[in-house]
Amino acid sequence: MSNYHEPVLKQQTIDYLQIKPGNTYIDATLGGGGHTFEILKRGAHVIGIDADEDATRYVTAQLGEKEIKKLGEKYDQAHDINITQYTHIDLVRANFSQIDFIVEHLQINKVSGILFDLGVSSFQIDTKERGFSFLKNGPLDMRMDKRLGVTAKDLLHALSKSELTNLFFKLGEEQNSRNIAEAIVKARETQKIETTEDLITIIAGVYKIKGQLLDKTKADISKRIFQALRIAVNDELTRLSEGLEKGLEVLEENGRLVVISFHSLEDRIVKDTFKKFEDEKKGIVVTKKPIIATEEEIAKNSRARSAKLRVFEKMLKI
Ligand SMILES: C[S@@+](CC[C@H](N)C(=O)[O-])C[C@H]1O[C@@H](n2cnc3c(N)ncnc32)[C@H](O)[C@@H]1O
Repeated sequence: MSNYHEPVLKQQTIDYLQIKPGNTYIDATLGGGGHTFEILKRGAHVIGIDADEDATRYVTAQLGEKEIKKLGEKYDQAHDINITQYTHIDLVRANFSQIDFIVEHLQINKVSGILFDLGVSSFQIDTKERGFSFLKNGPLDMRMDKRLGVTAKDLLHALSKSELTNLFFKLGEEQNSRNIAEAIVKARETQKIETTEDLITIIAGVYKIKGQLLDKTKADISKRIFQALRIAVNDELTRLSEGLEKGLEVLEENGRLVVISFHSLEDRIVKDTFKKFEDEKKGIVVTKKPIIATEEEIAKNSRARSAKLRVFEKMLKI
């Protein structure tokens, strides 16, 4: 499993989900199945969702080794959702914002818990053709679901200077967004911005960054610009809000939403949505402060450093 993605906060996630054998849980962000296989081990049923068919394909290959057998396939044409059913698990290629249709299509009434482990997997970052990493040269794609119509390259060429400025400022929290947007608009007058390296060269030009001394600055800015583009291409913040709202609807009483976020924009949505649910008397926030990884986990997996886990429990009468 570790070559696809090393799951973060694995034990804490499982503890907070309070898995009961025979009950059904949704892993809304399947990835390499790191969390899913822990749930399966505890005798529960999993609905594993991912927008990226590389993830469902990877996990499918793992099922054979575990003697989990295929039962059949379904396609929901109206919502473009692919479901493959196995003993103990349903693998679904869809956006988690469609969680309500998925559950309806599977004719499941309510589920006992839902996990959202947000962002991209190590596999997606490490695959240069996907264009997620500023450390690897590849096409400026950044779509989690390859069926989406707009790539990062499309945005860089189609948005106006002020739209790009807004994008980098709001979704990347980049202070120098206006200058970067200006440099992009100027560059695209004479060239196509095709690759991650093309974009980084433009960013570096704004800061006149040269030499190794400034590598960290270049990496920090590129990280923010790449984050902004990735969030926009996949409409991540809207999808997250929808996923949480619809997730709560399909949860049974005392069921839990467990969410792991990796940057402040995501975490703010999770925190505010949970607070809103609590104000609406739909349940309680179980984690008054977010759960973070131990130094030991961070030493083994640097991605765990920015992880924040929050939990909400649905209650019908409070
Ligand atoms: C951090 S990885 C999950 C890793 C997984 N928990 C594991 O242990 O292997 C996030 C996964 O969620 C998927 N994803 C992110 N946002 C999504 C969305 N809105 N709908 C469906 N899948 C999404 C990504 O494609 C990626 O595979």
